[in-house]
Amino acid sequence: MKLFVLLFITILLLQGFAEALSLGNAPDSLTSIDEGGDKLALHKKHHPRKINCSYACSRRCRKASRKKVCSRACKTCCMRCNCVPPGTYGNKSACPCYASLKTHGHKPKCP
Ligand SMILES: *[C@@H]1O[C@H](CO)[C@@H](O)[C@H](O)[C@H]1NC(C)=O
Ligand SMILES: *[C@@H]1O[C@H](CO)[C@@H](O)[C@H](O)[C@H]1NC(C)=O
Repeated sequence: MKLFVLLFITILLLQGFAEALSLGNAPDSLTSIDEGGDKLALHKKHHPRKINCSYACSRRCRKASRKKVCSRACKTCCMRCNCVPPGTYGNKSACPCYASLKTHGHKPKCP
């Protein structure tokens, strides 16, 4: 009988110990999951990095005859596509989204 009680107490103690361990571990594992999530979120935010549309479009439009018109269209396209082709004209295959945007008149929208 005494042995049984002793065993019971030992089991209780062990359970308490295990619980304490898992409780002690829980914050750790949570933080490591959080860190992973943060890294993933950062990575997600980081990967389609926003380009500097003002900069890209002033470069794109620096030789345009109507700079303001060019810049305005370019910025709209840039914000939608997050891409501006290199050079001052053409090269649109570098930005398929940019190349595919059309005006209401079905003309290429982006300079
Ligand atoms: C974009 O580039 C211009 C010129 O380099 C700079 O002045 C401006 O701060 C940049 N904007 C952003 C949002 O990085
Ligand atoms: C196309 O882009 C390249 C750089 O990638 C540039 O040297 C070339 O001048 C561009 N073409 C035009 C027509 O601007």
